[in-house]
Amino acid sequence: MCGIVGYIGPRQADELIIKGLERLEYRGYDSAGIAILNGTLNVYKKQGKVKGLRKLISDKDTSGTLGIGHTRWATHGPPNDSNAHPHTGETGRIALVHNGIIENYAILKAALIKEGHTFSSDTDTEVLVHLIEEIQKEGNLRLSHAVRLALNRVEGAYAIAVIDREDPNVLVGARKASPLVVGIGEGEFFIGSDASPFLDSTKRVVYLEDNQVATITLEHGLQLKNTDNEEMPPFIQELDMQIEALEKEGFDHFMLKEIYEQPKTIKDAMRGRISSKDGKVWLRGVDEYANRFVRADRIIIVACGTSYHSALIGEYLIEELARINVEVEYASEFRYRNPILTERDIVIAISQSGETADTMAALHLAKERGALIYGIVNSVGSSIARLTDAGSYIHCGPEIGVASTKAFTGQVTVLTLMALNLAHRLSTISNTYYRTLLRELELIPGKVEEVLKQSEHIKYIASEIKDHNNALYLGRGYNFPVALEGALKLKEISYVHAEGYPAAEMKHGPIALIDENMPVIVTATNQSAYEKIVSNVQEVLARKGRVIAVVNNGETAIAEIADHVIHIPPTEEPFAPLLAVIPLQLLSYHIAVQLNRNVDQPRNLAKSVTVE
Ligand code: F6R
Repeated sequence: MCGIVGYIGPRQADELIIKGLERLEYRGYDSAGIAILNGTLNVYKKQGKVKGLRKLISDKDTSGTLGIGHTRWATHGPPNDSNAHPHTGETGRIALVHNGIIENYAILKAALIKEGHTFSSDTDTEVLVHLIEEIQKEGNLRLSHAVRLALNRVEGAYAIAVIDREDPNVLVGARKASPLVVGIGEGEFFIGSDASPFLDSTKRVVYLEDNQVATITLEHGLQLKNTDNEEMPPFIQELDMQIEALEKEGFDHFMLKEIYEQPKTIKDAMRGRISSKDGKVWLRGVDEYANRFVRADRIIIVACGTSYHSALIGEYLIEELARINVEVEYASEFRYRNPILTERDIVIAISQSGETADTMAALHLAKERGALIYGIVNSVGSSIARLTDAGSYIHCGPEIGVASTKAFTGQVTVLTLMALNLAHRLSTISNTYYRTLLRELELIPGKVEEVLKQSEHIKYIASEIKDHNNALYLGRGYNFPVALEGALKLKEISYVHAEGYPAAEMKHGPIALIDENMPVIVTATNQSAYEKIVSNVQEVLARKGRVIAVVNNGETAIAEIADHVIHIPPTEEPFAPLLAVIPLQLLSYHIAVQLNRNVDQPRNLAKSVTVE
């Protein structure tokens, strides 16, 4: 949450920073601001999106080749102009942008007020600026030295970028538990919460580690120290990421583009990892730690939101195919309930961003207690990817739409490969079934392509149900987590209340809600318990509920009685979620568009949740 950008080099900084903020807007869009140094320190900030900031500065002097910018997701203090970043202190010489939370800000603030400081915002961040100024005042120190000393007095999480009018040739960045990456261009340097702001200028990057301070000057380049003042050699990596991945490429919204990318992203998640011809599934992290996996007492999967739903599918897959006991936990709950963990447990974290604070905290706990920790992550080089002992990237490319779509199917694909790899090692399924599954998995991208052709039909169904205030999603077995995910998608982008339930649970309570105003979206592609689902549909119809059913091509029993039907190609039951979730993603998308919602940037949300 919150995106930060910095630039130092020969070019004008303002446009580079504004463009960078537009690319980081998925991290928060409550307010935006920029500070440019050019003899004087010019700071402009404003509640609202980056386009508001762009307009604000259009007639201002923002010339200068050193600057920082910020797009905010509010934590301390409401979104307004004074709480927007950059923050400046007493003297107006320093400007600072921050992503994270300064946990001891109240104590620090009280002490600084006693020293005579006055504050102009409600944020925790402003404390850090005053603290740096106070330290500079005491010792007449250079900016990076003062920043380092200030950070030693701060508790919490931060990624910061700082500039100083009195030290005008330096850009300072630092991180602890919030992401920060330095881009190294030709005679110029960038700072970003991720690499997207500067990807068109350079792909050479240094990911900062916790407690590192980057001091960047054009004379000496990038110098890294830890907060104990020890030099650290920067580790430069070359990113394999294309700039087109950050553009909408003709789609109306990133979310739609990402839904349509799924045939490719599922293939990318499988690339080099499966060969039905050879009867092989490779997954490097699992292969490397095969002994630990096959002897594991338990696999515990921790995640949040959509990633939690893919974890539930992972539980079904690994338990059914590989017969290893799996537990799935919300990372936030796992972290705070003193779980029983042993060295024979494997803890898998699933995260698109690789930065989710609750998931990170759960992993730290698991590591402390000796479990093998494994990451299933999209964002290359992210904190979770670097913290884990082993892992598998899902290789979906940047996901910009705040509502997760292609990352979900990428995660499920990797979990499927994991289950198949382990099942083969443990001989828990017959060779014939194993080979059948491998062949079928390779067909899934083509089948997703088929499902996407239903978009216009789903758009029509959306127009029929969009004005209802509630919706119920039902599914059994593998389709139960799909129901949860369908409901989450609808809630987050259309603000329509929705619940996901196991179909059989409906009669234990939610059935009381059903009347003609309750659309019920039933995912009924299962072969097992099929008759039971038909009965569940009858129960809904008997109470005048409106049924929208997702069924296999050729299915008739439900198709004949439901109000609306979406047909999808049949597949092996363990792969049902990879197809069944697509119509639900499209349904939410079309409802949200028809309700005039901001699909890519729904209210109150941010893509990367770096606060606990
Ligand atoms: C839903 C969504 C969120 C995330 C959740 C976890 O569409 O995007 O629920 O799934 O915040 O994020 P990651 O996967 O980045 O850990």
